Formats: sequence, structure tokens, C-alpha cells
Amino acid sequence: MAKLTVNDLDVRGKRVLTRVDYNVPMEEISGQMVINDATRIKETLPTLKLLSDKGAKIILIAHLGRPKGQRDPSMSLRPVASKLQEMFGRPVAFVDDCIGEKAEQAVNQLQNGQILLLENARYYNEEEANDKAFAEKLAKLADLYVNDAFGAAHRAHASTEGVARIVAARGGKCAAGLLMERELKFLGDELEHPAKPFVVILGGAKVSDKINVIDRLIQKADTILIGGAMAYTFKMALGMKIGRSLVEPDKVHVAKDALEKAKARGIKFLIPKDNLVATPVNTGKLNKKGKPVFELQNPRLNSTPDFPDDSEGVDIGAATIAQYSEEVLRAKTILWNGPMGLFEDPRFAEGTFAIARAVCEATEKNGAKSIIGGGDSVKAIHNAGLGDKVTFMSTGGGASLEFLEGKELPGVAALSNK
Ligand code: 3PG
Ligand code: MG
Repeated sequence: MAKLTVNDLDVRGKRVLTRVDYNVPMEEISGQMVINDATRIKETLPTLKLLSDKGAKIILIAHLGRPKGQRDPSMSLRPVASKLQEMFGRPVAFVDDCIGEKAEQAVNQLQNGQILLLENARYYNEEEANDKAFAEKLAKLADLYVNDAFGAAHRAHASTEGVARIVAARGGKCAAGLLMERELKFLGDELEHPAKPFVVILGGAKVSDKINVIDRLIQKADTILIGGAMAYTFKMALGMKIGRSLVEPDKVHVAKDALEKAKARGIKFLIPKDNLVATPVNTGKLNKKGKPVFELQNPRLNSTPDFPDDSEGVDIGAATIAQYSEEVLRAKTILWNGPMGLFEDPRFAEGTFAIARAVCEATEKNGAKSIIGGGDSVKAIHNAGLGDKVTFMSTGGGASLEFLEGKELPGVAALSNK
């Protein structure tokens, strides 16, 4: 890697300000905030262990939610400190501010190898504004800077970018953590020169979210398999009827363009040949946002190119599952981003789960490298109970997409070169 990593640093006795992405899903249960999924915490443990064993004074900085400059107690990182302590098996101190005297005092009390978690950086508006004076205050806590927050590296905020620039300008080194290094390796280097055949599976709701990823991957992939609601925009581009499916009519030209590029490069670009469809029925109820709630009734297989007028696509069908699975089982490299249907509803989960099983089988039996691009696809792999059977699962949502588009991430760009 072109950037310094935590392995390159001499950290003994140094204050190492370490940015982590502890933006974890939480839920209020009888007045207490409880962490639903601690994956992002778990994935930082190797970096923390290395720093602690080498005798660093570790100061963790993170954000939780979008409190917009307010001290919203439901977005405090305090429960994360307890969870981290439990998972790490070593004491983790917490201080309810990330700058100023209180934070500085807590940092001064740290012994070599000890860990302190600072309160949510987004309790200050200056964090997202990447305010220089605020970043200076963060830099007061640091001799060295480590960024292990891949999931937040697409943000140019004070704790991900500004502070690194200041520490570096003072001559302090800024390095990638071990998780950051792994993310960049699998979503970057491994896909730059993939073992062939390279099969890309793309799903999710919108073509517009993934168009830059599609553009870039058309140059690299041998096969692209399209699922999820974005497939309906492709179907529309091919002149098929999609009934009442979720669609982006203003992105039809984008879909056409992708189909033409794939054809010109001679790669396989598949859209579902059959789908599960259901009929949306207005329940007369309104959701929290005041929008009408529809119930999806009468799920059935549609094997013709056109959907019935009253129906909506909700998953890929059995023939598509068989075809896509066959492609996946031929692959030596697999990248998957986005579910095949509305998998949160068990009635419409089979397409996504079947693809998850095929990806795992290709990994286990054929030695394929399987890389899961974060967000909903990671959730789907977990829901299918296959969490440990793929090569790599990204902890980034938006960050993994931007990185797959080939963009430079501000949080990475700010790190010191080797
Ligand atoms: C995420 O969960 O996507 C990252 O932590 C970034 O959070 P954000 O989208 O609120 O900036
Ligand atoms: Mg996000």
C-alpha cells in the first residue's frame, strides 16, 4: 500500500489519536440504548490490540448518528465504550467530550497501552464542517494519527481529514489502521487485477446509486448480474412492461448506455429472466412520514418478459436464481453489492439468500475470492447465517460504493505516504 500503516509506526509512549467508525445500529430497550450489531467494533480490535501491545496511549475518536451539533443522549458513545471493553477484555475509559480541558485531562491520565474513547465528535457542528480551529483542538490530543474508519473515509470531516493534515504538518505520522488496510486491499488492489472469471453481482433499489460503479466495473468484469429494483430500470430500457415496480424512468438512458458498453466490450450483462411479483394494495394507513402504507399481496412467479399491470417486482425468480448461481460458481473473483429483492420480508428473501449461498459455495469449494461490498448485502449474508464463509465483508456502506467507483477517499488521501 502506498500509505503508511500502523505497522510502520513507533508508538511506544505516544498519544495515538485513532479514528474508528463506531456508527453502529442501536435500539432503545426500556430506556437504554443497546447495540444491535457490533461488527464495526469487532473489526477494530486487531488495530487496538497492536497499538496497545506496542505501548501506545490510544485515544479513540468516532461519530454516532447525525446529531447535527446537539448533545442528543441517544447518540452518546458511552454504551460503545462498555461494549468495546467487554469485547476487548481490557479496560476502556470514556470521557463525555472530544475536545477541551476535560478531554485533555483524560488523555493525560493514560498510561502506555491504555485506551480512552472520546464522546461523539458530531456533538459539534464543526466536525462535519471540517472546521480548522476544531481540528486544531483535536490535534492537541495527538502525537500520531491512525485512521481505521474506512466506513467514514468518504467524509472530509475534522476527525477524518482536517486533524490528519494538522498532525502531518507538525511532522507527526498519519497511518492506516489494519481494518482500513484490509478494506483498501480487498475493495481496491484485489479488484484492480482480479483472478478471472470476475463476476460482479449488483442489486439494490437504484441505478442512480450504482451507475459509476457499473461504469467502472464494465471495464474489469467478465460477467455482471443485475438484481433488485435497479433491474426494473434495465427492463424498462429494453422496452419491457414492469407494472407498478420501483423504477427510475429518468435513468433509462443510463441503463441503455451500460447495456451498450457491456455489449461493445463483449461481456455478459444479465438481467433477471423471471421475477417474483406481488400486488401492492393500499391499506388506508399512513406511515410515520404520512405516506400511504401498501401491503404486498398475492406473491407469484412471473416468467414472461412483461409484468402484469397491477404487479410489482419483489425478488428474482427460480430460473434467474439457477442461471446466476451457475455464473457465480464459475467465478474466481466475486464482488457483490446490493440485495436481489426485498429480503427483509421472508416471502421475498429467497433470491438474495440463494445468491448468498452460491457465493459461499464458490468460495469454499472453488477457492473463489468473494468480496461483499458493504451495507445491505452484508446484512443479507448475516441473515442467511453465512457470515464467516466469504473472503471479505466491507464495513463501509457509502464509503465502499465511492471507493468502488474509483474515487479517492478524503480520509485516505490525508494519510502519510510510505
Ligand atoms: C456510515 O455509517 O455510513 C458511516 O459511519 C458514515 O456515516 P454518515 O453517512 O452519517 O456520514
Ligand atoms: Mg451513511
